Amino acid sequence: MRNIYFLSLLMLSSFNSCKEEPKEQEDLNVTLGINKEVQYKEPYRPQFHFSPPEKWMNDPNGLVYNNGVYHLFYQYYPEDIVWGPMHWGHAVSKDLINWENKPIALFPDEHGYIFSGSAVVDINNTSGFGTKDNPPLVAIFTYHDPEGEKAGRKDFQTQGIAYSLDNGDTWTMYNRNPVIPNRNIKDFRDPKVFWHEESRQWIMSLVAGDHAKFYKSRNLKYWQLTGEFGKDNGAHGGVWECPDLFKLKVEGTEEEKWVLLISINPGAPNGGSGTQYFVGDFNGRTFTAEHEDEKWLDFGTDNYAGVTYNNLPTDDRVFIGWMSNWNYARDTPTERWRSAMTLPRKLSLHKNVDSSYIIKNYPIKQFDAQLEDYKRIHKVENEGSLSVEHKELSTSVIDFKVNLKDDYTAKLKNKQGDEFVFNINPETNKMTVDRRNSGLVDFEKTFAGVHEQTFKPMDTVANVRMIFDRSSVEVFVDEGRHVFTDQVFPKEPFTQFEITSKSAPYYKNVNVFLVKPIWEEDE
Ligand code: FRU
Repeated sequence: MRNIYFLSLLMLSSFNSCKEEPKEQEDLNVTLGINKEVQYKEPYRPQFHFSPPEKWMNDPNGLVYNNGVYHLFYQYYPEDIVWGPMHWGHAVSKDLINWENKPIALFPDEHGYIFSGSAVVDINNTSGFGTKDNPPLVAIFTYHDPEGEKAGRKDFQTQGIAYSLDNGDTWTMYNRNPVIPNRNIKDFRDPKVFWHEESRQWIMSLVAGDHAKFYKSRNLKYWQLTGEFGKDNGAHGGVWECPDLFKLKVEGTEEEKWVLLISINPGAPNGGSGTQYFVGDFNGRTFTAEHEDEKWLDFGTDNYAGVTYNNLPTDDRVFIGWMSNWNYARDTPTERWRSAMTLPRKLSLHKNVDSSYIIKNYPIKQFDAQLEDYKRIHKVENEGSLSVEHKELSTSVIDFKVNLKDDYTAKLKNKQGDEFVFNINPETNKMTVDRRNSGLVDFEKTFAGVHEQTFKPMDTVANVRMIFDRSSVEVFVDEGRHVFTDQVFPKEPFTQFEITSKSAPYYKNVNVFLVKPIWEEDE
């Protein structure tokens, strides 16, 4: 978080100048070119991951489904490609894959910048902002008052709400904000609210530096603190951020557990920002974990501040994370925009043989509709290696199978000698990704690294899916049991893929798919 405070101090002058000469909200959206000439053609521009039309983006916010529309709001600074006074940018989708940019939803006001938070469909109109026939969408977010921060106060983050009666197109700030004041807690933010059917009330999880707090409310306006969790649990190498509490069924059983996601920065296993999770119970007031060990959703360094959708039409838990890391988010070599979101991923809970729990995260099924089958290679053997070359390989998906008792090395390469290497090594019990020679890496000192996670070698066949989208690689082993999400900036597009193995020269069911871009010509 230090980065943010430092930055927000830097940004104060521009915030003030904004105040002197307020840009009309309309003008800002025009400047943004929302739905206009945005081409999504820059060399590192993701072709099927969401990225903002231009300028700076961080956390996903207000993930909610309503009336056939999936909303994606996000931390947005529309005037620069570095972090600044936060707004909520907005995009909508019918399938969570193809997005349409919408005008900015929430603007800073007299209470401060609009930091991360969530959105709910207030179906019973508990807030009174709408009617039973036209229930409001309510956004619950953190106000960050830069003046208070600059003055050295601790109480500069409070919680506010806003509502929309036209499914997210226009928003009105609640005139009695903030709804939760700050009693001198320095990092007090990122409310995630959901409807708790068992107690028929709203529950909010919020973070307060080194722990989570839980609140309840009947109307989204008056909130009462009910419990706390985490001072002595999990990782504490940095500030806790972006909590998310929800129930999940253990796959293949009727058993249900509660899960708490907590982003932490710094202190992730491979450096900087990362997402830990806890499995346990929630009794309507507070959360308790069943385990002592630290659990992490992703071992790459580019999956942060992720949260899940509210109000989905199915029981699925769908997660989107910000595909960057506070270590270098401001330094990545893009010019017009900064950063993208992960693909939407389904979270599923599994019980291991030793009765511990694990959450897998894997791209949602709808994503498969984007795959254009151009090459299928079955059992191709060439002295222990298999290689595929294609000019569009930098926007592709490669699926193959491995046996978790054998060693494998998969490489993505280009003619300049840049390479991204994924390795499974049963001797060291480690899976690693190595982006030290992946192209532009020296824009920040921690970027050129090897990211690793341990695994149990065993005589089991597992799927591997690697997803490349110009400047990102997502690696999923065993349907998301082991995951790495990493940005890459090769000097020219990757065009070659190869797998080698000392112990298993047969590659089963290697499928290579091109992925259809989502930003093709406007209809
Ligand atoms: C996480 C975070 C949040 C905060 C937001 C500010 O990346 O630091 O805790 O609300 O970003 O943009």
